[in-house]
Amino acid sequence: MRDLNMVKEHADQAVAQRSLDENINPSALKSGEGRTFPQVISVTSGKGGVGKTAVAANVAIALARLGKKVLIIDAVLGLANIDVVFGLTPKYNLNHFFAGEKSLQEIVVEGPEGVQLLPGGSGIQSVTRLNSDQKLRFLDAMDAFYGDFDIIIIDTEAGISENVTFFNVAAQEILVVTTSDPTAISDAYAIMKVLSTKYHERRFNLVVNSVSDQDEALDVYKKLTHVANRYLDISIAYLGCIPYDKRMREAISRQKVMVELYPKSKINGAFESLAESLTAVIPNVQPKGTPQFFWKQLLSFGQGE
Ligand SMILES: Nc1ncnc2c1ncn2[C@@H]1O[C@H](COP(=O)(O)OP(=O)(O)OP(=O)(O)O)[C@@H](O)[C@H]1O
Ligand SMILES: [Mg+2]
Repeated sequence: MRDLNMVKEHADQAVAQRSLDENINPSALKSGEGRTFPQVISVTSGKGGVGKTAVAANVAIALARLGKKVLIIDAVLGLANIDVVFGLTPKYNLNHFFAGEKSLQEIVVEGPEGVQLLPGGSGIQSVTRLNSDQKLRFLDAMDAFYGDFDIIIIDTEAGISENVTFFNVAAQEILVVTTSDPTAISDAYAIMKVLSTKYHERRFNLVVNSVSDQDEALDVYKKLTHVANRYLDISIAYLGCIPYDKRMREAISRQKVMVELYPKSKINGAFESLAESLTAVIPNVQPKGTPQFFWKQLLSFGQGE
């Protein structure tokens, strides 16, 4: 069985080779010259209910306001919720795509500020475990979307299921959301551990949600980096924090995002800063390959299931 590192190196080399073939440099693959690829960011956490969906939805709108063309993929295949947060009632969702009934173009819907959404599996309680054929079909179908977007945000479900790892590894950047709750911190550590030891992910971004002040968030960051430096070979970039705001729940019941309802609030400012941090951090990082490339290598060796 081939070592995952080799597969990944091979994928990176192939991207570099492809860029040479096309007479453009690797960063141009990401940034605009020749064929453009969007930045793909997964939002993940380990523990449920820490605010992944809230962060994904609000930061997507903040990014759209910065002039970015944004797609959100609601990768919560069991019980979706970005559509609810956006006040949408999409007719089709990703389960229709994975069942082979609809194309991605047929299920994509438009949310606030022109943000596009691929809805997850609304109303379906049982979580679909994607097989390798479904994963490959999804990656192929996503290829047709790449030219249309600057940034793709993937809202993942809680836990460390294979669906979650699939979407995290397909992304170039992983945004880990945690609160200062000790179980949320240890679950954030757990997901970084799995992604680094099993899938050789080395770089993570952190946002600490529902905090009362910046010190609370920095304390979480310190705890995570302390243990990660000791036991894992990873780097964690601190991208900021989001304050606790009780109006978040009200926003959900009104099916609006906070940044729409309270544009002048502190929390809106936090989402704007996070959007800016994301756009600032991304162009500086070395691409790890086109989103689909690594998984295609992996799946064709039968290791991605
Ligand atoms: N900064 C915040 N302040 C106050 N409430 C918040 C904040 N962020 C999220 N919430 C609330 O916490 C609850 C859980 O948030 P959300 O659904 O975004 O979490 P999640 O991580 O996506 O959950 P799941 O794992 O179930 O997908 C929601 O009711 C949301 O309104
Ligand atoms: Mg969620």
